[in-house]
Amino acid sequence: METIPFDRATRLVVLTGAGISAESGVHTFRDKGGLWSKYNLYEVATPEAFAADPRRVWEFYNMRRAQLGTVEPNPAHHALAKLEATMPEGHFALITQNVDDLHRRAGCRAILQMHGELAKVRCTRCGTITETLEDLGVLPHCDCGGMLRPHIVWFGEVPMLMDEIDDAIRACTLFLVVGTSGVVYPAAGLLAQAKASGARTVGVNLEAPDNVAYLDHFFQGKADEILPKLVESWISRL
Ligand code: OAD
Repeated sequence: METIPFDRATRLVVLTGAGISAESGVHTFRDKGGLWSKYNLYEVATPEAFAADPRRVWEFYNMRRAQLGTVEPNPAHHALAKLEATMPEGHFALITQNVDDLHRRAGCRAILQMHGELAKVRCTRCGTITETLEDLGVLPHCDCGGMLRPHIVWFGEVPMLMDEIDDAIRACTLFLVVGTSGVVYPAAGLLAQAKASGARTVGVNLEAPDNVAYLDHFFQGKADEILPKLVESWISRL
């Protein structure tokens, strides 16, 4: 950990995936028993699936929305929030592929949720975005009469906030990636992009991710055990 340069000039971008929320009890996607071993993603997470059978898609997202009320941030989420609060203003940005709200509930503020948020719904007609975790039933509608959809990026759709993500990566000197298999693009390409723009790269994951070749430092293990130690060693150098 000492060999990773970190001081008050460091500009850090963190990219997280499902693995950071695993110890909180949120399912990952591709691990044994993960969501994509139980559900066919083409039946629940594409625009075509929603057009063909919105009821089935809503049932899948209602199950995941309801689960949010039963889980809490874990030490990995809290460690990142503490790091953000300790670093100089504007030197920390968090990009997450996760659609849960655990980073926010841990106290992180500079969050770019590139795959959307379970806690929001969007009208397919007027585009209004509403924040709610209420049980909306299986075919909810907006006041304008349009059907509501989860405010989630489905396969085949463009991730959100890509300009802000691009800016953050260009400015960073250190890129930390946590709990992601590194197979879903464009998120999986952000590590290579950060390295190409000169950032030092660090990974924390249970198993080596697909894009491990782009990591300068790799810590294998559980995020909730490794991140608090890593963050404390960085905070001690601020
Ligand atoms: P995956 O399920 O593909 O990968 C989770 C990664 O976390 C794996 O590499 C695990 O080894 C690792 N992991 C599991 N438990 C861990 C722990 N306690 N500590 C550290 N690492 C752990 O999830 P993502 O990479 O996030 O997209 O998936 C990317 C996207 O694919 C998701 O955002 C979602 C999915 O389809 C959409 O729905 C658009």
